[in-house]
Amino acid sequence: MNRTHTNGELRLTDLGKTVTLSGWVAKKRDLGGLVFIDLRDRYGITQLAFNPDSPLYSQTLDIKSEYVLEITGTVIERSSKNPQLPTGDIEVDVASLTVLNKAKLPPLLIQDETDALENTRLKYRYLDLRRPVLQENFIVRHKTVQAVREFLNNEDFLDVETPILTKSTPEGARDYLVPSRLNEGKFYALPQSPQIFKQLLMVAGFEKYYQIAKCFRDEDLRSDRQPEFTQIDIEMSFMSQEDVLDVSERMIKYVMKKVKGIDLTEPFPRMTYNQAMNKYGVDKPDTRFDMKLVNITQLAAETTFGVFTNNIENGGIVKGITVKNGAELYSRKGIDKLTDFVKKLRAKGLAFVKLIDGELSGSIVKFFTDEQQQELISLAELEDNDLFLIVSDKAEVVHQSLGLLRNHIAKEQQLVDPEEYDFLWVIDWPMFEYRDEHQRYFSLHHPFTMVQETDIPLLDTAPDKALAYCYDLVVQGQELGGGSIRIHREDIQNKVFDILGISKEEQQQKFGFLLDALQYGTPPHGGIAFGLDRLIMLLVHTENIRDVVAFPKTNSGQCLLTEAPGIVSEEQLTELAIKTIK
Ligand code: AMO
Repeated sequence: MNRTHTNGELRLTDLGKTVTLSGWVAKKRDLGGLVFIDLRDRYGITQLAFNPDSPLYSQTLDIKSEYVLEITGTVIERSSKNPQLPTGDIEVDVASLTVLNKAKLPPLLIQDETDALENTRLKYRYLDLRRPVLQENFIVRHKTVQAVREFLNNEDFLDVETPILTKSTPEGARDYLVPSRLNEGKFYALPQSPQIFKQLLMVAGFEKYYQIAKCFRDEDLRSDRQPEFTQIDIEMSFMSQEDVLDVSERMIKYVMKKVKGIDLTEPFPRMTYNQAMNKYGVDKPDTRFDMKLVNITQLAAETTFGVFTNNIENGGIVKGITVKNGAELYSRKGIDKLTDFVKKLRAKGLAFVKLIDGELSGSIVKFFTDEQQQELISLAELEDNDLFLIVSDKAEVVHQSLGLLRNHIAKEQQLVDPEEYDFLWVIDWPMFEYRDEHQRYFSLHHPFTMVQETDIPLLDTAPDKALAYCYDLVVQGQELGGGSIRIHREDIQNKVFDILGISKEEQQQKFGFLLDALQYGTPPHGGIAFGLDRLIMLLVHTENIRDVVAFPKTNSGQCLLTEAPGIVSEEQLTELAIKTIK
């Protein structure tokens, strides 16, 4: 092609030049003979001008939105400039015009603000992706991946690909299965992560591995979850938790500087899992705003309020959050809505008090003596016009409901700054959590996670108290990455499997090859994986993961563009020896 410049390039310094441009028609305006066309490409928009007496005028009459053009003309100064546009000082007086391709009327407006339904956008994703805002997201994604590779390559990591057709991996979601034609009745699983392979690469002596890896998890989808997503996956040998955190932190800082120009000079703060749960109610606290959970269990136990005292007698706790100026911000109706919010999270209710003109008000105040009221004011650090919202329940319910209520209120009251990157390490995770409904222990991370050295004896006596070498990187209330030091000793691995109730047969069947490998000289090793899609969401400030995935799936796992998943022919099924149940 002949193009001499892109559509984002021309400035006043180019006046008088003869240029050839290509692109799509973003907009055409016909001001009674004087025709303007905005020509768009990946780099920007340039205005084309056609004089009323131009021989090309009649040709412009047929041109419609999204036609693909190539033009040649002269750069001239605009009479009315557009300061919004980098090329807004100039336009091109067109001397020759070729229509390279015509276009049907597009079913959506191709500009930053579009009112098209998301389903339409996904069905015509190739048109949606023409929108400059979306293109910018993928430019950021590209730059981020380049920065990650640059950093890790310089640190001597090796980029190794691992299989997509494989066996089940241990991340705990449902697997996507692929039937094997050559092995009738058998299935591959798509990897939920490269976890096992990266450990095998450590056994193989690669020492430092990374991969920008596709992962597949059949789980309930949300705005930050796709069934296939991408991880920046890392594993290292002869390294401690401290080493993994150090490399990861430097990588994130490198990316932030390279892609956003942001200098994060301070070390990322650290918080233990227990501190996170106690103060923020969740394992991924948003630390951009305060509103920490206040424990009033002791005080509540001394009151005459049966809801509190009964719950505490049954082992429950009472906590609350202080909403600054909440007495004004939340009327009775507003508080009812907050109550509905926590009820969906299994809380039985939401008690509250307001401090107005130095007096506590609210239906529960009568159960507090004057002294107890003063103690409440001081514990919750209440100032005039503040609202204190209280949940009394099992610790798990109190933490979850208040933790999420805290985020909800912050969003509602716009307490968070999307430009603030509050990176935080959450460390010292418990090895296991006991789930009542299953009556057994589950790994908080995965079953290959190493117990902290001093807690090894607890595996025999009190597994639920044992802490792991396990860490998450959290930012803006989101889990951006997580990892652990792995078990490289067979005796500990066996103990952990025992605690998890994974039988010898199941161990062999599921991870036998890894357990075998661990017996051939395994170096101490550990690693981490970051959600690349989530990192991009953070960098481009979107809450919708579909804005950063070129061809995403809907919440029901469908690709509206290709109509996957689709029906397959009887022949294909027969070949795979599969019968569907109708
Ligand atoms: P984990 O399961 O914590 O760890 O995943 C690591 C990171 O991947 C991102 N992530 C997702 N992003 C989009 N859609 C999803 N469905 C999705 N699921 C996870 C998150 C998460 O923090 N093998 C271990 C890592 C290790 O131990 O080294 C693992 O996969 O940002």
